[in-house]
Amino acid sequence: MARRNLIAGNWKMNNTIGEAVVLAQEISNKFYPDWLDKVDVAVCPPSVDLKPVVNVFEFDHLKIGVGAQNVYWEEKGAFTGEISVGMLREIGCVYCIVGHSERRNLFAETNEDVNKKVRALIAGKIKPIVCVGESLAVRDAGTYLEFVTAQVRAAFAGVDAFEAKDAVVAYEPVWAIGTGRTATPEQAEEVCAAVRATLAELFGAETADGMRVLYGGSMNEGNAELLLAEPDIDGGLIGGASLKAASFVEIVKAAM
Ligand code: PGA
Repeated sequence: MARRNLIAGNWKMNNTIGEAVVLAQEISNKFYPDWLDKVDVAVCPPSVDLKPVVNVFEFDHLKIGVGAQNVYWEEKGAFTGEISVGMLREIGCVYCIVGHSERRNLFAETNEDVNKKVRALIAGKIKPIVCVGESLAVRDAGTYLEFVTAQVRAAFAGVDAFEAKDAVVAYEPVWAIGTGRTATPEQAEEVCAAVRATLAELFGAETADGMRVLYGGSMNEGNAELLLAEPDIDGGLIGGASLKAASFVEIVKAAM
């Protein structure tokens, strides 16, 4: 099956509203709308920037998707500091990153939390971008395929094929995030293929064939093309390089 690439920018905790609007406008100015016939594109700004960024793309009639970086699984109530799926949907979010390694490592997010968020997002019709990936210690121990596929199984526990089909998985080796040390195309493909095989076990080959598996970790305009040429890599989750409009747009071009 021909899967369409997805290039998603993860802005992390960068850009005030003013800066976010400028960056979104710069991306929009460099963008030809017909690119979106060939590739899906999204940006994931901090939550306070979501609505202003949605407004920029709506004003320009550009179907770049906007995604959140986190969500809470309860609908409403006494959960100080958290944001619900319904709140994100009303803003116009199409995607939400879940289980990024920074959330797992710095904010103690567990596989169970990730699963609750994935299920809440699917129920609320927002596409989860589920991040998985091993630390350097796990890579060096040689158990990275078991580790990553166990994260995938845990994230999708209790989810059926129909519910899973629009979800996205992003393989992001922790040792490659923000380090400038990208996985080689072969290293990334090995794990992305194992992720797809796990999705096939969970949901059947046809559903797994249609689901997107992204690579993330120091992807940039210099290495995107080779990574995206791999059969099981269907796009990228881009951190640092998504903060410069020119770099981000070059990666989008490499994905067409
Ligand atoms: P990076 O981040 O591209 O800066 O390595 C990727 C990510 O954490 O999603």
